[in-house]
Parts: sequence; C-alpha cells; structure tokens
Amino acid sequence: MSWKEIYNSKLVSSQEAIKAIKNGDKVVTGFACGEPFGIERALVENYENYKDVQIINMLTLGDSPWCEPRMKGHFTLNCLFASQSNRKAISTGVCEFTTSHFYEIPDVIKNYMKPRVSIVMVSPPDEHGYVSFGTTVDYTRGTTDYCEIVIAQVNKYMPRTFGNSIKHVRDFTYFVEIDEPLPEVKSVEISDIEMRIGKNCSTLIHDGDCLQLGIGGIPNAICAQLWDKKDLGLHSELVGDGVVDLLEAGIINNKKKQTNNGRTILGAAFGSAKLNNYINNNPSVELHPIDYVNNPIEIAKNDNMVSINSCLQVDLLGQVVSDTVGLNQFSAVGGQVDFVRGATMSKGGRSIIAMPSTAKKGLISRIVPLITEGSAVTTPRNDVNYVVTEYGVAQLKGKTLKERAKALILISHPKFRPHLILEYRKRFNEDVFTKEELKEQLDEIKFNIDNTVGDIKEKLKNDLKNILANN
Ligand code: COA
Repeated sequence: MSWKEIYNSKLVSSQEAIKAIKNGDKVVTGFACGEPFGIERALVENYENYKDVQIINMLTLGDSPWCEPRMKGHFTLNCLFASQSNRKAISTGVCEFTTSHFYEIPDVIKNYMKPRVSIVMVSPPDEHGYVSFGTTVDYTRGTTDYCEIVIAQVNKYMPRTFGNSIKHVRDFTYFVEIDEPLPEVKSVEISDIEMRIGKNCSTLIHDGDCLQLGIGGIPNAICAQLWDKKDLGLHSELVGDGVVDLLEAGIINNKKKQTNNGRTILGAAFGSAKLNNYINNNPSVELHPIDYVNNPIEIAKNDNMVSINSCLQVDLLGQVVSDTVGLNQFSAVGGQVDFVRGATMSKGGRSIIAMPSTAKKGLISRIVPLITEGSAVTTPRNDVNYVVTEYGVAQLKGKTLKERAKALILISHPKFRPHLILEYRKRFNEDVFTKEELKEQLDEIKFNIDNTVGDIKEKLKNDLKNILANN
C-alpha cells in the first residue's frame, strides 16, 4: 500500500478512535502545546462509557477536566508537572502526581507506568508519509514505539520540526483530523525586578556560552540582556518566545557548540505562534526526545554550558526548593537537576538559580533560615552554585556553611536581612557581619523597612532593633 492508502485506511472520527480505549486502561497523552485536546474532548463527552481509565500527562495548559467530581470512577489524571488547573486537585488527592527528573520520564512512563494507549498530536504527513511531532517530541514521540494503540490528532497548525521528531504513518493505529490553533504560552511583560535579575544573570554569561533557559518572566528578562553578547548556543529542554529575536539576529548562532554545531537543540517548544512559526520547517532548530536533550552526559558535551532555572525558596545552606510550597505540589522538578548537573559537568560550565528575593507581593523572603515544613528539596545544596536575585549574585561552591549563608543574606531583600542575621547568629553562635559591614547596609535596610506597608512592618522593625541592640 502507498503511504496515502495506509493513512486513509486509518483515518477515523474521534468518536471512532476512542472506542479502542478499554476500561482500566492507562492512556498517555502529549503535553503542553502538543496536547491532543481534539481527541481528549471526545473522551470527556463520553466519560460515562469508561471506568477506571488513567490519563498520564506531563503538564497541561488546559482545564484538567479529568479532575471534575463527575469524573470519579471514570477518569483519573496522573500528571508529572502540576499546573494551575490541577494544583488544588493534587493537594486534595483527586489528581495523582508522579515525580521524576525529566530526562528519566520516557523510561518511567514506558517501564514503570506502562500505558497501553498513546494519544498524541502531529502535523499532517509530508510527501513521504512522515508526520512531525512538531512542538512536543520529549517523551511523546517515544510512546508510539511501545504503546499497543497509538491515536494521533492530525492538526495543520502543528509545525513540522527537524531532529528526531518524525514518524511514518504506518506507526499509528488511528488518525483523527482536527485543525485547531495550538495552546499558547504568551510572554508576560517583564517586571522591573525581573529586569534586574536578568542583568545580574547576564554578568555570568559570556560570548560563546551555550545556554539552557527555562520559561517565564526571568528567562525572557535574561534574553533581553543578551544583545551585547555574541556566538551564543542553545541546548534547552523548553524555550519560550524570548529566544526568537536573538536567534533571528544571530546572537544565538550555535557556532561554538561541540555537539550539534550550528543547531539549536530542544525537547519542546513552549511559546506562542511566534515561536511555532520560527521552528516550522527550520533546519537550524532540532527537537529530540528528552532522554537525549536532558541527559546530563549529553548536556555536558558542550563546553561553557550555562543552565538558568528558577525556584521558590532557598535556605541558608543553599538547598533549593522549586516545585513545592510546604505540602502542596506547585510544579515539578522538570529538567532543573538534569541541567544543573549537565552544566556543572561541562568544561567551563555554570549553573544559575535565579529568583526574585521575595514572594507573595513582597510579604515573604524566598531566602529563609529553614525550608518550609513539608517542602521537598528540588536541587540539593551540593549541586547548587550561583544563586541570583535582583540584589546580586551568591556563588556557593567551595564555600563553608557560614560563607554560604553570608553570601545568600547579601542577596536577600534588605528588609528581611535583620531576620536572617538573627537566625545566622542562632545557628552559628556568631555575627555574620562585622560592625563595618553592617553599617554599610544599614541605610538600605532602614529605607526598605520604612517603606514596607502592612502587618509585617512591626516585625521587621523589631528584628532590626534586635540586631542593633547587639551591635
Ligand atoms: N512561599 C510561598 N509562595 C511562594 C513562594 C514561597 N517561598 N515563592 C513563590 N511563591 C508564590 C508566588 O508568590 C506566586 O504566587 P502569586 O502569583 O500568588 O504571588 C507563585 O508562588 C509562583 O511564583 P513565581 O516565582 O512567580 O513562579 P514562576 O511562574 O516564575 O515559576 C518556578 C517559578 C520555580 C515555580 C518554576 O520555574 C518551576 O516550576 N521550576 C521547576 C522546574 C524547572 O526549573 N524546570 C526547568 C526549566 S523549564
């Protein structure tokens, strides 16, 4: 049969395709911009026909309908990265959560979770009968190698990407043609604090470095600070829109890379139509399975690899919490540790954890004496090197516990420094700053406390009074 005959023989409606799913099945689905919502909608509409089906999905940009009360006994979501729509359901036990480093996720899904069915989204076939996984290759492409049933939503909006991102039409069980714009991750405006963080990070980035950038405001702010650099490379699990202008301008040109020279390497694209149009049919951008992209050994093959990721909390020892707030799952480890370790192993490499110094509209410090009870350490202190806030850069490797704590206090928000100074004293039985060092910061500390509004002002003033009483 020609590939067209094969394709046409497998072309069905979504209602027809989902009949292949049986009670008790585990169904893995493509994630983020590659989530096959067209076929998932058919499952949601017919939920009463199914019992005990588990949906395995890394991260959804959708509504997580599987977590609605009516789904009980019919569908359960088991995700590997919490999102806005299922965070609450995870904390109430309605939604399951599985934790894993991103580079191991293809293996974890295949050999431990063992789904029987895969539902993915792909581009229409090319003239040779190959469809592309476009924005979302990561663990998704691999599921078509081992799942018994593979259903693909064929969507003309899915870009065709280069790399290890294609499959022949014979490798699928059913095709369902549904054209709909992909879910988008729009860039948000870069705040003043993010800009300052971006500036501080850019002091650690040099011409010729190979970058991994996460997503969100901070990576975009870093991109905005890279216009005076040259010959940068990009090897990243995900990227958002922020990199497109730098790629188009040739600031990122991948010229100095030891592997994949001249090409950007990604596991998934996580942006809007701007990014999707850029990667469409673009031979300079390759998408590959995540067990390759995020494998620390592969990452380390490029010299001067710089990983930049964000976090929610850092304690005075340098333990980094990025995916939990107390007992609540906020996101997941994703590829944070994969890239911290890969960058550390790379010749000349550096790992950066960048975050605003405060959270909750300035009410709490992200640099804390002890991590919140119930939180999980995402990146262990022995892996962490540079921590960056809008107040500067703390370099931790090779430092004693006291030196680490001091470096972190120096990049904390000035209004929380008195509290951290007191906690340092409790822990180490000595003062962190000499009288002169404290005097240098005092005006800034006082100014920031004076300008604090709300209930915490009194406590901050008290902390300041306490440290001054001993100095
Ligand atoms: N305690 C309580 N709440 C906190 C907090 C803390 N220590 N730190 C942050 N928060 C709150 C914030 O105030 C914010 O809530 P709000 O919007 O109501 O104010 C919310 O948590 C999100 O914080 P924010 O820093 O804005 O999150 P972000 O969208 O910039 O994402 C991470 C930051 C760390 C959650 C995200 O980068 C992540 O999940 N990282 C782990 C995965 C990873 O690094 N992968 C590799 C790159 S893709």
